[in-house]
Amino acid sequence: MKKHDFAYLLEDQSHDAIIDLINEEAFGPGRFARAAARIREQGQHDRALSFVATDHGAVIGSVRMTPVMAGFVKGHLLGPLAVRPSHKNLGIGKHLCRLAIDAARAAGSEAVVLVGDPPYYARIGFEKVAPKSLEFPGPVDQNRVLVVPLADAVHERLKGVIGWRMDHP
Ligand SMILES: CC(C)(COP(=O)(O)OP(=O)(O)OC[C@H]1O[C@@H](n2cnc3c(N)ncnc32)[C@H](O)[C@@H]1OP(=O)(O)O)[C@@H](O)C(=O)NCCC(=O)NCCS
Repeated sequence: MKKHDFAYLLEDQSHDAIIDLINEEAFGPGRFARAAARIREQGQHDRALSFVATDHGAVIGSVRMTPVMAGFVKGHLLGPLAVRPSHKNLGIGKHLCRLAIDAARAAGSEAVVLVGDPPYYARIGFEKVAPKSLEFPGPVDQNRVLVVPLADAVHERLKGVIGWRMDHP
């Protein structure tokens, strides 16, 4: 048997329990207090833009995307992104992000925003958002607010409140 047999799939309901476990393992009980989690509490994530990574059929990584208005930008919030410790440093996190960003672009999203570690996400194409541009529903380290712009003048329009939006075209 091959050591690894990776596949990337669109998320569906059958993945919910294992995704919860992977996020618990990655972020611990404090994860619901994070500012980004507060946005995700406002409404459903979009399964059409959310992916899991599997190895021999077992889910070992997940990325979720939630539709947001970020100031004047109709975009998506990326996260949580998590890969099981047994499968770190194999490029899975990066691949999951790329899939989610490509899917958002194809769906007409104007930007992918997240709160995360700049050194990790810079390599995937994320840029810093000017501090204090976006108002989150909770405290956030403004130096960790990042964006992949997918439309014109995104940085200029990322001004104001960020919150969940109904994902109607
Ligand atoms: C962060 C995470 C998703 C990365 O997934 P992964 O599949 O291991 O990442 P990749 O294989 O795509 O990339 C690995 C590279 O990123 C680096 N990296 C991992 N986490 C990093 C971080 N927080 N900051 C900077 N670099 C980081 C690794 O050192 C490695 O570098 P190398 O390619 O030079 O060896 C995973 O480690 C994880 O689930 N962590 C816990 C949850 C978390 O922190 N999620 C992200 C929120 S910021």
